[in-house]
Amino acid sequence: MNHRTRITATLTVLLLSTFAARALGQEALEPAPPSRPPPPSPESLAGRFPDLEVLRLVGAGGMGAVYEARHRRLDRRVALKVLPEALGRDPHFSGRFEREARALARLDHPNIVRVHDSGVADGLHFLVLEFVDGATLRQVMDAGGLAPPEALAIVPQICHALQYAHDQGVVHRDIKPENVLLDRSGTVKIADFGLAKLVGRAGPGDGLTTTGQVMGTWHYMAPEQVRTPADVDHRADIYSLGVVFYEMLTGQLPVGHFRPPSEARALDARLDAVVLRALERERELRYQRAEEFRTEIDRLGHPDARREGTGRARAWRLVGAALVCLGAGALAFALVHEAWGGVRRGTQDAFLREVIKGSAAGLLGILGGACALRAVLLAARERGAEGARRAGVVVLGAVLVLLPLLAVVTAAEVERHARTPPDQPGPPMEERR
Ligand SMILES: Nc1ncnc2c1ncn2[C@@H]1O[C@H](COP(=O)(O)OP(=O)(O)O)[C@@H](O)[C@H]1O
Ligand SMILES: [Mg+2]
Repeated sequence: MNHRTRITATLTVLLLSTFAARALGQEALEPAPPSRPPPPSPESLAGRFPDLEVLRLVGAGGMGAVYEARHRRLDRRVALKVLPEALGRDPHFSGRFEREARALARLDHPNIVRVHDSGVADGLHFLVLEFVDGATLRQVMDAGGLAPPEALAIVPQICHALQYAHDQGVVHRDIKPENVLLDRSGTVKIADFGLAKLVGRAGPGDGLTTTGQVMGTWHYMAPEQVRTPADVDHRADIYSLGVVFYEMLTGQLPVGHFRPPSEARALDARLDAVVLRALERERELRYQRAEEFRTEIDRLGHPDARREGTGRARAWRLVGAALVCLGAGALAFALVHEAWGGVRRGTQDAFLREVIKGSAAGLLGILGGACALRAVLLAARERGAEGARRAGVVVLGAVLVLLPLLAVVTAAEVERHARTPPDQPGPPMEERR
């Protein structure tokens, strides 16, 4: 089963449970927290949106509520996003909303939720959006987490969408698992560029209120977004995506002095550098472009990259192979040399047997050691420091068990030799014949 199929399977289970919940009369998605006024009921919206048949409330979050609806004339399934009524009381809000809606409507990308329409109806600001039939990344993670290959399939799609939007001068500012939707085929659709601004407009003097500048979800916000919200650029999205990626891989949020992902969970240690770079506190040290982030992830997922590894790993592998060849060559030489000497002396029988036994044991020892070393190195690369530690313990355990065994066998052998009378020199070759 490939990762896209696995994501689709998880989505199918989620959708079935949503249907079951609806059949039992419960809403599958959480209602708005009690501190917020409850979202308007679908019935109460009917009169305000004559073009739409509002079917049900899908969910409510920090920026309003989302409903599933049918566009009557176009007979199209759409999502209606209604912003909190209170926002309409801010005299500056309408202008800002209009500007943003226009910027968002320009975004036309397969990984971004399309904006079909926007406006104000009876004081309610709304957006009519492409309806995504699937689940949010949050729901997918809650339904049993994601294996690293799935995360590696999802993040590049987000990078694609971000790079596209950034190229248009639009910063998302609120990348979080709730805003990453996955349709039934596992395709990513980023929702809610609702906090995005045209870069350069969000300054203290431009009349934008703090609401517009600070909005973002605390744990996913870049340090500069918290410190100086007016001075945020596209690299804030790269940080937030780093948080989402870390969470997808480890199930934890990177807060305080957090551990590299491979120490939090058994993972390919090469992921650490990729994730940690996105999470740099100083934006100058992060990936400067979403595309750069995506390239690094693609390189990790590529089977060739996996085999080739880094330049240094390749160099070490070459050194290892050279040492094994050298050892094997030296042993083969010793074997032939001694055997030839024995043949010439005509005493090859007992002596040759010992040489062959010793050489074979030595060769096997070298090969075994090389395999063990390779296993530890592989574990270090594939599963991180924790995996390497465990592999190291296993190898050490095996050595500790084998060493006394070898000592006992050697002691017995030495004793046997000491008891047997010295070998009579064999008859000269000519006599034997
Ligand atoms: N275009 C869409 N199509 C389908 N469902 C959506 C769409 N946009 C948002 N949703 C759903 O509505 C929920 C509420 O969205 P929102 O109000 O943006 O709050 P939040 O993003 O904080 O969860 C989301 O969690 C998601 O499940
Ligand atoms: Mg949202």
